[in-house]
Amino acid sequence: MDRSGIEAVKARINISDVVRRYVDLKPVSGRWMGACPFHQETKPSMSVNDEEGFFYCFGCQASGDVIDFYGRINGLEFREALEQLAAEAGIELEHVPHDPHAAERKARKQLLIDMHNEANSWFQRNLSVAAGDHCRKYLADRGMTREMIGKFGLGYSPEDWHGLDNFLKTRGRTPEQGVEAGLLSRNAKGDIYDRFRGRLIFPIQNLSGRVIAFGGRVITDGEPKYLNSSDTPIYKKGEHLYGLNLARSTMTRTKRAILTEGYMDVISLHQFGYTDSCGVLGTALTPDQVKRLAGFVSRVDLIFDGDGAGRKAAMKSARMILLQGVACRVVLMPEGEDVDSLLQSQGAEGLDACMNEAPDGLVFCMNTLNADYAPRDIMAWAKSFLSDLSDASLRAYYLPRLVNGLGLSEADFRREAGAMAPPRNTQQQPQQAQTPSRPQKVPVGKDDKDDRYFLRFPIQYPDYVPALAERGFERILRTDWAKAIWEKLANTQPGQITSLLNDQEKSFYYRCREELRANVLSGRELLREWNYLCNKISSEQRIKDEKQLTEAIRQAQQSGDTKRALELLALKESRRRDDEQY
Ligand code: GTP
Ligand code: MN
Repeated sequence: MDRSGIEAVKARINISDVVRRYVDLKPVSGRWMGACPFHQETKPSMSVNDEEGFFYCFGCQASGDVIDFYGRINGLEFREALEQLAAEAGIELEHVPHDPHAAERKARKQLLIDMHNEANSWFQRNLSVAAGDHCRKYLADRGMTREMIGKFGLGYSPEDWHGLDNFLKTRGRTPEQGVEAGLLSRNAKGDIYDRFRGRLIFPIQNLSGRVIAFGGRVITDGEPKYLNSSDTPIYKKGEHLYGLNLARSTMTRTKRAILTEGYMDVISLHQFGYTDSCGVLGTALTPDQVKRLAGFVSRVDLIFDGDGAGRKAAMKSARMILLQGVACRVVLMPEGEDVDSLLQSQGAEGLDACMNEAPDGLVFCMNTLNADYAPRDIMAWAKSFLSDLSDASLRAYYLPRLVNGLGLSEADFRREAGAMAPPRNTQQQPQQAQTPSRPQKVPVGKDDKDDRYFLRFPIQYPDYVPALAERGFERILRTDWAKAIWEKLANTQPGQITSLLNDQEKSFYYRCREELRANVLSGRELLREWNYLCNKISSEQRIKDEKQLTEAIRQAQQSGDTKRALELLALKESRRRDDEQY
């Protein structure tokens, strides 16, 4: 990991500047407050601290630095988030030394992005000139407004085998590069030609708004109806969602995503005011896509055809979403309609009516199970659903609901499910850590409470860490989680600690830092606290010594070594007197 790159990004970018892109922030006594985008909340529960570069939500305990925030809200892995922020800030990240091809790969990706950009302008220009007349007419006939054509950047690829090919040549690109970008195709004879011909073009953008692929629809009859870019180093099918970059800001406000299948459906939804809509891009919904959405929203409204195939797909998608701890609803279209046709014929009212009837995702799954599945298949479904959840608290949430909804005996089911294997896919665990389900709070027993209290001091006043370490601070900690945090505090440079903490630890750490703002100890209070901890440490040590001594006395007595036993007793007595004087 490129530590200096990480530090440079954090130093160069104000966390509040990034947060403000998604959340309104108001200044409150020296820091910023806003509504947390990671749980359902309209009150300003999230604090953003520029000075120390972190955010912390009092409601859901979400916390972290600017890279954590950016990654979580955009559904990116840490590395991706770091790279994007570094690019924004003009910071060159050191490439991991064992990857000598990284620079080359990056240059290749940049070339692909540049070529997509060039192709995109060319497609758009074609739609606006005479060659695009019948495509524009087609769009008008389907009720699409100019505004939407602009917003989604639609274009047109003329009926020409070498239109884009020739255009790219004028930009100094070779046909081979066009093939690599997925913009041109090569036949068995080795001839290179335009992949998209005579099609309405839908640019597919990533979250930063860069065009990374295209979809194309025939205008007159032809096969296939839709043609998509193939996978390239900048585009993997099943990773992206159509329109997500345009829907994202509404989603962070509504905390909802509408998910549909078709390009035209997404555009119509936006046109009719549902600007939190996006599309799955011609494949079945994938866990990657769900993960992306989970970063913004707490509910997904799934739109599907009302027929058998639609219900089957709805069941699969709902399951996938529920597994991530995100709620969903299943909105089924009337027979023979899709969202686009429904909106064009009945307007928002027609869709709202369907939405009002839409069952909750879990209820939909259970209803379908009860109606269409054999008892053994119901059991199998429920068991596999629960075992695919890697988050124990989510399992506790779903179990009684499933038992109720499926009419199972809880005791029997628990017994059956008890034999359940742990989550099959261990690779899922890091993914789960990214879901917006609340980070687990530290436990709440008496020892935990004490440890929380003790740890607060070194976290809030890190200058005291070395002195506490020297005195044996770890002795007063009882719980493993607290010892783990202390271990990291004691062995790290002050500025670097947060990169070592896991989510739960981070949440605790940032809470302590946040509380410090509200209550900085005066010099006298600080001294009192310090003395308290030192006393605690030494009394802990005395208790431990005394226990050892008592044990040694018992052993001496047992082995008949009376002299030794008496010596030890005297020592114990004198120590006790010392302590009383103390
Ligand atoms: P319109 O006919 O333009 O309204 O499109 P639609 O979205 O209603 O089409 P349809 O219901 O047939 O398909 C839904 C979605 O599935 C499309 O938007 C595409 O994303 C995808 N799709 C449909 N046909 C094809 C195809 O032939 N190839 C590929 N790759 N995807 C397709
Ligand atoms: Mn349609």
